[in-house]
Amino acid sequence: MDAHEIRNSYLAFLERNGHTVIPRAPLVPRGDASTLFNGSGMQSLLPYLLGAEHPAGSRLVDSQPCVRAQDIDDVGDNRHTTFFEMLGNWSLGDYFKETQIRQFLTFLVDIVGLDPEKIYVTCFMGDEANGIPEDDEAASIWQTLFAERGVSNGIARIGSQADGDARGVRPGERIFFYDGGENWWSRGGSLEGTPIGDPCGPDSEVFFDFGSEHQDPTFGLAHPASDGGQFMEIGNQVFMQYRRLDDGSFEELARRNVDFGGGLERIAAASLGSDDVFRISLLWPIIECLQQLTGRRYEDETAAMRIIADHLRGATFLAVDGVVPSNKEQGYVMRRLLRRAIRLALSLGLTENFFSVIVPVIAELYADDFPEVAASRDEVIAVLVKEEKSFRRTLAAGLDMVAGYAGHVMSGRDVFRLSDTSGFPKELTIEEAARLGVEVAPDWAAEFDEALQEQRVRSRGATRLGAAGLPGGAQA
Ligand code: SER
Repeated sequence: MDAHEIRNSYLAFLERNGHTVIPRAPLVPRGDASTLFNGSGMQSLLPYLLGAEHPAGSRLVDSQPCVRAQDIDDVGDNRHTTFFEMLGNWSLGDYFKETQIRQFLTFLVDIVGLDPEKIYVTCFMGDEANGIPEDDEAASIWQTLFAERGVSNGIARIGSQADGDARGVRPGERIFFYDGGENWWSRGGSLEGTPIGDPCGPDSEVFFDFGSEHQDPTFGLAHPASDGGQFMEIGNQVFMQYRRLDDGSFEELARRNVDFGGGLERIAAASLGSDDVFRISLLWPIIECLQQLTGRRYEDETAAMRIIADHLRGATFLAVDGVVPSNKEQGYVMRRLLRRAIRLALSLGLTENFFSVIVPVIAELYADDFPEVAASRDEVIAVLVKEEKSFRRTLAAGLDMVAGYAGHVMSGRDVFRLSDTSGFPKELTIEEAARLGVEVAPDWAAEFDEALQEQRVRSRGATRLGAAGLPGGAQA
């Protein structure tokens, strides 16, 4: 099954199981300033996970486009993307662990066709200090299901990720218990990090084994929660049954919920039998287009092509949702994605504007499933191309400026000057300096912020003066 088929059969399967398909939320959350982007399917459902009634009922399903800007520096490897789709289903006080776990395994094995031998799972080992028990219920459900499928079902009690890196997987093991750093879901990322007032709970994560040849040994021995590459997380079932109180303790919610999130791109990669998510049907055509435009091969320019493909797909969806490149917040992230894509394309020899060629490829990929992309194609191209043209004008000058610091130490003020005059996002300057071996002062970031503050004060003064002294001065 390709990614499109996986998404649609997931929605159809869950619909048959009594779920209502809900529309995706916009990438920029409305009325929620706590985060720049929607980074998971559940974000817009928080009130319902805390007990409010959802108008569409107690069983919901969707596929939610997400942006995780914090992952930008990891893009370039085989599995990280800033933009991805999260398959999501929710039980709001309806079914619980047994139904969810069976449902997801059925989907993966009987519908997508994954080999159950390659599926590994994790459960929460409990936290005595906070009075939260081990999730032996989830583990025993998994044991039964794996036995039904005729595959091994041994249990391993691991602890932390580091414990696992030292221990690895032993023969017959398939179900792994980890601590609150790994198998507890909250918006804070761990049990200890759970924000006050938030819903949270133990989770059971599902991993696909791509084979030991994919493990990077610098990460230690392979085990599901390792970052080494052999195991890739493809889905996370959160049993949202707690809420954190003001005093830091955890209380049981009156209604127990399931919050499931699955990575569409990664499930598609598993289905393809390739650990490279850029080979799937939603990304490969972009790579093919880049190969044509540059005359280079993906095998030789893997990281650059991955980054360009990811960033332009993300920026396209951001533009569809009304974001425009700017110097702050969502607009800054978008600008960074676009400028980085241009810079990398230049390193592949692409000196011409090319966004207007890539966007239609992306629109076509989503024509059936997110028709709003094709519908706003021309507006998206206009927004992206405007940024492309303006940045390309200063790109060469900016690159020369960074190169000009060879043999000197670049200060935070230098980095600021480049961003101010050439529109070089500070991160791009740092990347470029690293590439050229130009030294950057260790305290550059603090100095950059200082220079930025000073400039803000100056321009505020200038605006006030202009507004007072000239007709229409504030606009001048
Ligand atoms: N909230 C969980 C996650 O983001 C599942 O949706 O992984």
